[in-house]
Amino acid sequence: MEVTLRQPIPSDLATLGRIHYEAFRGIEETHGFWNPSFINPEASTEGIRSMVGNPGIYGVVAERDGQILGSNFLDERDPVRGIGPITVDPKTQNHGVGRLLMKAVLDRSAGAVSVRLVQESFHMRSLSLYTTLRFDVKEPLLVMGGKARSEPLSEVVVRPLELKDVEECGALCRRVHKFERIGEVRDAVTALKPFVAVRNRNIVAYATEPTNALVGHAVAASNADMKALLAGVSRLASEPLMIFVPIRNSELFRWCLSEGLRSISPMNLMSIGEYQEPRGSWLPSVIY
Ligand SMILES: CC(C)(COP(=O)(O)OP(=O)(O)OC[C@H]1O[C@@H](n2cnc3c(N)ncnc32)[C@H](O)[C@@H]1OP(=O)(O)O)[C@@H](O)C(=O)NCCC(=O)NCCS
Repeated sequence: MEVTLRQPIPSDLATLGRIHYEAFRGIEETHGFWNPSFINPEASTEGIRSMVGNPGIYGVVAERDGQILGSNFLDERDPVRGIGPITVDPKTQNHGVGRLLMKAVLDRSAGAVSVRLVQESFHMRSLSLYTTLRFDVKEPLLVMGGKARSEPLSEVVVRPLELKDVEECGALCRRVHKFERIGEVRDAVTALKPFVAVRNRNIVAYATEPTNALVGHAVAASNADMKALLAGVSRLASEPLMIFVPIRNSELFRWCLSEGLRSISPMNLMSIGEYQEPRGSWLPSVIY
């Protein structure tokens, strides 16, 4: 029976959430990286629900004979497209469904300046699959978690990001990455807990959800500004930081370790299309 693709509907949520949970649990347990506080059945279903309900995110479901086999998502809120999460039912993995789901979102993103994703670098199947689909590894990352110990800097004010800050955050992102993520930042004001760091009345850093890198990214003019932001958030937020640190940025990586953050698991940022080496400090989300 042929595999068919369609867009997700609300009645798919429970099945898509279960597959998301079981697929990640399977691969992470196999490699000794399983951490139930990051992915659990409720969080999986809620995560899928928030994407299916967002008009800026395109979803695709694979099914055979009425049975759902997996799903994939494409974030279209900003010029750079972000893929994920893609998950295939563990019973069906390694039989071509993932490739079909990836091709569907790549076809959809034809003409975009760049398409990106983040994958668990210990996972040989996803790394090999994405590489054959023309993705290049651009940056090794490390998931890190914990609260920074430093006292916040007196000359930098860290406060919640508000709607009036969105354009300035977009301009900062453009300076660092050559593109902006205004659609994501605007959504974060209502859906997440975003923060800015302000120095001399200028926004020098922002993070859309620094306690959950599965949904949040951060951009700063310099490492000093990123450190000030993370130290400030560690005081203001009740939850610990959970961030993806680009580990070629040794200064920031060493600072995170000296602040007491723990290294959790390795990831790769992968990209197709235009890619400018960032000119500043940055932390990607789970899509880019
Ligand atoms: C990653 C995932 C979506 C891929 O879906 P899938 O249906 O299993 O993958 P496919 O069968 O379509 O493709 C796998 C490809 O990798 C290849 N592959 C698998 N293991 C490999 C290895 N060790 N070395 C080289 N190639 C390998 C397969 O041969 C296949 O390539 P082919 O199409 O040229 O034959 C799925 O395995 C999954 O849900 N994993 C757990 C969750 C996850 O990690 N999601 C990705 C988050 S970034």
